[in-house]
Amino acid sequence: MNKDIEKICLRKKTIAAGVRRAAHWLDQQLCGCAKTPLFIAVLKGSVIFFCDLVRAMKTPVQMSFMTVSSYGSGTESSGVPKITTDLSVDVAGRDVVLIEDIVDSGHTLLALKTFFEQRGVTSFRTVTLLDKPSRRKIPINADYSCFKIGDEFIVGYGLDYNEMHRTLPYIGILKKDIHIGTK
Ligand code: PRP
Repeated sequence: MNKDIEKICLRKKTIAAGVRRAAHWLDQQLCGCAKTPLFIAVLKGSVIFFCDLVRAMKTPVQMSFMTVSSYGSGTESSGVPKITTDLSVDVAGRDVVLIEDIVDSGHTLLALKTFFEQRGVTSFRTVTLLDKPSRRKIPINADYSCFKIGDEFIVGYGLDYNEMHRTLPYIGILKKDIHIGTK
């Protein structure tokens, strides 16, 4: 285990099973779509989940990417998500599925839902790997969430602290002495 990790909360096998369940749910949801669904990864945190998820699905999908940032180098959301890299495709008339790594305060999800509805999508679904309901400031949920977690500072499988630990194959709780004073 990495030296900065206090405890593993989701092992590689547990995550893989959650990804398969989400892929199955999406295959069922999207089977009636007239056009190929467009999957959008919210970078950077969702990138590893996104790649595993689309490859676990039977439905062919198109992929696109956007960057939204609200945390900077801290651990608390600023409440003002900023789209720092916009999409390179027109989403009007598309069945869009937005893939997130975590829903925390809900600010990012609300901002993105509003953004996509204003751009005239045919349908809009959201899937998150992790849900931290105890931290919610906006009453919003993803349409599908793989795992609910408590109010711990977690890293791995795409999630970072100061851009570190995204490549860990598991999700673990960061030791307090690493991030203390920043929350
Ligand atoms: C994280 C995460 C979500 C958002 C959720 O992004 O990827 O997009 O915060 O938080 P919220 O529900 O409080 O809005 P972050 O800004 O840390 O960027 P990253 O994905 O590049 O790590």
